[in-house]
Order: sequence, then structure tokens, then C-alpha cells
Amino acid sequence: MRKKFVAGNWKMNKTVAEAQALATELIPGLAPLTSIERVLCPPFTALHPLAGMLQNTGIGLGAQNLYWETSGAYTAEVAPPMVAELCQYVIIGHSERRQYFGETDETVNKRVKAALAIGLTPIVCIGETLEENQAGKTAEIVSRQVRGGLADLTPPEGAKLVVAYEPVWAIGTGLAASEVDANTIHRDVVRVALAEMFGAEVAQGLQILYGGSVKPNNAANYFTQSDIDGALVGGASLKAADFVAIAQAAV
Ligand code: 13P
Repeated sequence: MRKKFVAGNWKMNKTVAEAQALATELIPGLAPLTSIERVLCPPFTALHPLAGMLQNTGIGLGAQNLYWETSGAYTAEVAPPMVAELCQYVIIGHSERRQYFGETDETVNKRVKAALAIGLTPIVCIGETLEENQAGKTAEIVSRQVRGGLADLTPPEGAKLVVAYEPVWAIGTGLAASEVDANTIHRDVVRVALAEMFGAEVAQGLQILYGGSVKPNNAANYFTQSDIDGALVGGASLKAADFVAIAQAAV
């Protein structure tokens, strides 16, 4: 049985003070939900204070990116040891990184390897654009992103990942993918590619999250599907009541 996993990607929102206020509201709602994994991914600036607040709550902390070099002259980048000092998780390859900041399957692959090497759990994001979806290319694009982003990993390394399928057209638009369509991609494309890369047993154990306009009123529909193991939540993770309600739906 795969444990359900609910993560909040706060994106570029919340100052330190605002992040602390949101975490203060979230902790009492999330801490008791011990049957699922719950993770907060605030901006880099809020990681240090939140790491302190989340200690002994059972709630995990994740960064939204990391660089692959360990240290050096890479102005404004954040290195794996810096993230691993505070976090257990790191989001890699979010579509906003791919769209606005030149992220590719190759750079995703470098970040995934760096994250795994330092013991972080990568939450690897994949998903097709509206154009690709309308051209009937969803399976091809998603499969390519899985194979490229996770290239050269051994099965034991592959077993440590979390994958998030986030169709770009569903992010922040209110146009969520239907639970049946998302489940079909998870089962027939993502898990099939993972099985070919890492073997059936590893693939069956991996958590595949859905992301894209997940809200309290639609979350439960996703969580009852065979191959949707949780959610990566954007907008609704910024409201404590909404994110707690989504996590409760996963329970
Ligand atoms: P929304 O939940 O705001 O659509 O964002 C999804 C997302 O991009 C999470 O990483």
C-alpha cells in the first residue's frame, strides 16, 4: 500500500512573517494526520524558521529547487547541503521552472541526482502544456520527461523518488484534469515508464501525485483513484483551512 502524500507548493508567496503565521495555523490541523505524508514547500527565505517550527510535528519540509553543484561561485543558487540541512524534500522541474527559467529534462536530471546523493527526496514534476495536450502528445511528452529527468538512476535510487504529474494547463487555472484522465496518465504512462526503468516492484511502490487546481471540493475524487497517491497543491496550500481539508480528504 502506498502512503498518501500531500504537499503544498507555496511558490513565490509569503514573507518570513507570513510563512510563520501560516505554519502556525497549519500545524494543529496537519500534525494529527499521521497516516499520510504532509509536506510544506515555502520559499527559500522561510525554510530556516519553518524547519524549527516543524520539528517533532511529523510534517515534512521541502525546498522548491536546488542547484547541483555542492558550493562555489554560482551567485544566487542554493546548494544541496544547504537544502539538506533544513529539509527532507525538494521539488524539482516544476513547469514554472521549465517555462520561465530554462529548466530542461537534462537539468532536472542533474538536480535529481544531486538531491538523491545528499539524501533528499526529490518531488519530480512532469506535465504537458495545453498545446501538447491538444495535439494529442500528452503520453509522449510525459514519458519523455520521466525517462529524461530520471535517466541513469539505479532502481534503489528510483525507489526514493516522488513523481508529480501536473498538466500545465491545469495549474492555477481552475481547469483541473478529471480524476479519470489523471489516473490514466499515472497508471498507463508514468508508472509504465517507471516500471521499464526501475522494475515493476519499484514502480508499484512509488507515489505519483496529481497537481493542478486541486481544491477542497475536488480533492477526494483524486484520492480514490487507483494510481493517484496524493496531491501537489499550489493556490489552495496558501489557505490553512483549504490545505488541511485537502489533507483530511487524503486520510
Ligand atoms: P495550483 O494548485 O495553484 O493549480 O498549482 C499547482 C501547482 O503548480 C503545484 O506545484
